[in-house]
Amino acid sequence: MAEKHSYMQDQDVKDFTKDIQQYNLGPLWEAIPALMHKNPEPHAEAYLWSDELLKKKLMEAAQIFTPDRGGERRAIYFQNPGLTYRQPWGWASTTQTLYAAVQLLLPGEVAPSHRHSQSALRFITDGEGAYTIVEGERIFMEEGDFLITPKNLWHGHGHVGEEPMIWMDALDIPTIYSLGGTFFEPYPDKIETPKRPDNFSELRYSGGIVRPISDRYSAVAPLANYKWKRTAEAIEGLMKFEPDPYDGYAVEYINPSNGQTANPTMGAWMQKLPKGFHTKAHRHTHSSIYQVHRGSGYTIINGVRFDWKKGDYFVVPNWAWHEHVATEDSYLFSVNDLPIMERFDLEQGQVLDTNNGNQEVKSEFKAVPV
Ligand SMILES: [Fe+2]
Ligand SMILES: [Fe+2]
Repeated sequence: MAEKHSYMQDQDVKDFTKDIQQYNLGPLWEAIPALMHKNPEPHAEAYLWSDELLKKKLMEAAQIFTPDRGGERRAIYFQNPGLTYRQPWGWASTTQTLYAAVQLLLPGEVAPSHRHSQSALRFITDGEGAYTIVEGERIFMEEGDFLITPKNLWHGHGHVGEEPMIWMDALDIPTIYSLGGTFFEPYPDKIETPKRPDNFSELRYSGGIVRPISDRYSAVAPLANYKWKRTAEAIEGLMKFEPDPYDGYAVEYINPSNGQTANPTMGAWMQKLPKGFHTKAHRHTHSSIYQVHRGSGYTIINGVRFDWKKGDYFVVPNWAWHEHVATEDSYLFSVNDLPIMERFDLEQGQVLDTNNGNQEVKSEFKAVPV
């Protein structure tokens, strides 16, 4: 059959397309397939960073970025290889919308206080004895804790313990950057002085179960720290019931004053996959960044197998088929942009209806050798 003639091949169309670009005008007839595809086609790629790599590079960073050099946080971010320096949302992007990093704080060190229009959350992966100080409240952190710092709240970090502390930071940096809404302000002093009792919100809210009768109205961050013990207990309770076929036993961290996600622009989940559990495959508009809190297994993303174990991080981009398999009892912490997608009414999902709901593995992910 003869190939259908496209007007795009006509010389006058080609000439005109070229002509307008010198005036900073653009040809929609050429751009529309890449701009308006049928489904999300994120530039972000599925990827995995190993625990060994991250620990090694953080320890090297500790030698180079010493406190006497001053400066900012000792954080190394996850740069999605599909988003490298692709403006406006490509720089420091782990997914199209979200940034994530690992941060190391050594005993005695301080990360200066500041505030910004990006919202932040932290998941503590190693150590204890460090605190974050948010709006004058020192919040002590230990492994498995989840903390929030919604936008424009003063926050800094200090460490009065004895071992290195490492945590995951996640922020909505690419989203705020692309919206043109970036504001940042350093605190006048190096770090805030405490204005409230330590762990004030955790004491007052009992982990989000109750609230003081004086706090009857919605607040942006009534509870700053979600302790691991309470999260683990909630998941154990869920395990008496049927698991979610796509996510196993999963809970979402919420703001106890309004029932919404703990951070207004980022969802955060903890999920347990018992040994041998194999989820069904699905895909959805929102993207997720996972930290393997405990256990080992693998996730198949668009037909590629990503093996993971405690301490690894991996990314599931928007609209990527994914399913998880646990080879031992596993806990996955994850951050997602579901609140952003829901705010714009963009969230959609699909389940795989072939091959009993599971993907075929076509290849395995190979990391850059460390
Ligand atoms: Fe910050
Ligand atoms: Fe999912």
